[in-house]
Amino acid sequence: MAVIAAFAGSAIGLGNIWRFPYLVGENGGAAFILIYVVFTLVLSLPIFLAESAIGRGSQVNCRAAVSFLVPGRAGRWFGFLMVLTPLWLLSYYSVVGGWSMDYLIRALSLEFIHSTPDQLAGNFERFISHPWMPMLFHLSFLGMAAAVVAFGVKSGIEKFCKWSIPTLFVLIVLIAVYSLTLPGANRGVEYLMKPDFSKVTAHTFIDALGQSFFSLSLGTGIIITYSSYIKKGENLMVAGVGTAVSDLTFALLAGFAIIPAVFSAGIEPGAGPTLIFDTLPFIFSNLAQQMPFLSAVVAILFFAAIFIAALTSAISLLEVGVAYLTEEKEMSRGRACALLFVLCGAFGTLCSLSFGPLSRVRLLGLNLFDFADSAASNVFMVLGSLISVILAGWVMPRSELFRELTNGGTLRANARLFPAARFLLQYVTPIGILTLILSSML
Ligand code: TRP
Repeated sequence: MAVIAAFAGSAIGLGNIWRFPYLVGENGGAAFILIYVVFTLVLSLPIFLAESAIGRGSQVNCRAAVSFLVPGRAGRWFGFLMVLTPLWLLSYYSVVGGWSMDYLIRALSLEFIHSTPDQLAGNFERFISHPWMPMLFHLSFLGMAAAVVAFGVKSGIEKFCKWSIPTLFVLIVLIAVYSLTLPGANRGVEYLMKPDFSKVTAHTFIDALGQSFFSLSLGTGIIITYSSYIKKGENLMVAGVGTAVSDLTFALLAGFAIIPAVFSAGIEPGAGPTLIFDTLPFIFSNLAQQMPFLSAVVAILFFAAIFIAALTSAISLLEVGVAYLTEEKEMSRGRACALLFVLCGAFGTLCSLSFGPLSRVRLLGLNLFDFADSAASNVFMVLGSLISVILAGWVMPRSELFRELTNGGTLRANARLFPAARFLLQYVTPIGILTLILSSML
C-alpha cells in the first residue's frame, strides 16, 4: 500500500483534475476516454513495469541507471533527456500552479460566493490575459517550490500530501455528485458515455497517449528513481496495476465532476487549458445560492487541494534537476535551486504571457503554452518511455527482468503473466508508440 501511495502521489495531480477534463472536452468525449483507458492498460502499464524494473534492478538514480544499461555517449544523452523533461514540464506546470494559487485566494476572499454565475463569466479569461498578474503568480509558485527543495523540508510536505490526496478524492466525489444534479447535466453524461468516433483523428490518439504518459508520470525518470527505493520483496506488478487503476479512477471522477457542469453552464467543452477554472467557480456560485457556507468551504478546500497537489508535483519535478546538478556537477543545493528557478521561471514566463501579450506568437500553430505542453507530453515523455521499454525489453537480460517482475519466480501469478508482459514490452508497446508518432506527423 505504501508503495502504491508513493506512486499515486506522483501520478495524481494537475494531470487528472486540470488536463484530463479539458482533453476530453477537446477530443469529443467518450471516444477519447475509451482510447485513453485502452492505452493506459495496454501501453502505459507495460512501460510502468519497464521503468520500475529498471529502477529496482539498478538501485541507483535514473541517469546512472540508464548509463548502466547503455554505457557511453548514447546512455548519457538518454539520461540527460530524462533530467531535461521534468524541468521543461515544470516550467509550464508552475504556470497552472500559479493559476491555482490565484483561485485559492479568490476562494478565500469568497468571490465565488458573492458573485452570480453570470458575473463570473469571462473572469478567468481576463485574469490570464492580464499583462503581469499570472506571471507574478507563476513566479511565486515556482519560488515556493524552489524554497521547499532548497531547504529540504520535503518530509513535512510529504506528510501534508498524505491527507491532501484522500481529501481531494472525497471532494471530487462530492462535486461529481453535485454536478450530476445540475440542470442539463444529462447532456454532459451522454457526452462522457456515448462515443462519437466521427471526431476521432490521428491527433486524438497521440493526445490520449500523451495524457496517459503525463498522468502516470512516465518517461520523466521519476518512476525509475522511486523504484530504486523499493524493497526486493515488493510486488512490482501489483504496484503498477494499483497505481494505474487509482490514477484512472481519479481522472474519470474529475471528468464526471467537470463535464456535466460545463454543459449545464453552457461553457464550450473544447475551451482548452482554461476549462476547469471557468467551470468550478460556476459550480460554487450556483451552490452558494442554496448553501453559501458549504459552498465557501468546499471551494476553499478544493482549490487548496489542487494547489497542494500541484506544489507537491512541482517539488518532485524540481528535485530531479537538483539531484542531477548537486550529484554530477557538484553544485550546492541552494545554487542549483536558484539556477533552475531562473531557467524555468524565464521559460514559464513566456508560456504564461502566451495567453496575453504574447498570444500572437505561434509555434506549429500553437501558442507557447500549448506548444510547451504538447512537446512535453506528446514528444519528450513519449521518447523517454520508448527508451525505457527498449531498455527493459531488449537491453536488460531476460533473466533480470524476470527476477524483478516476479521476485525471482516466487510470485507465481506474476511468473505466469511474465511472457505476456514481456511480449507487450518487446513488441506491442514500441510498435504502437512508433505508429502513433508517425501517424501524427502525417
Ligand atoms: N503525473 C503528474 C500529474 O498528473 C505530472 C507529472 C509528470 C509528474 N511527470 C512527473 C509529477 C514527475 C511529478 C514527477 O499531474
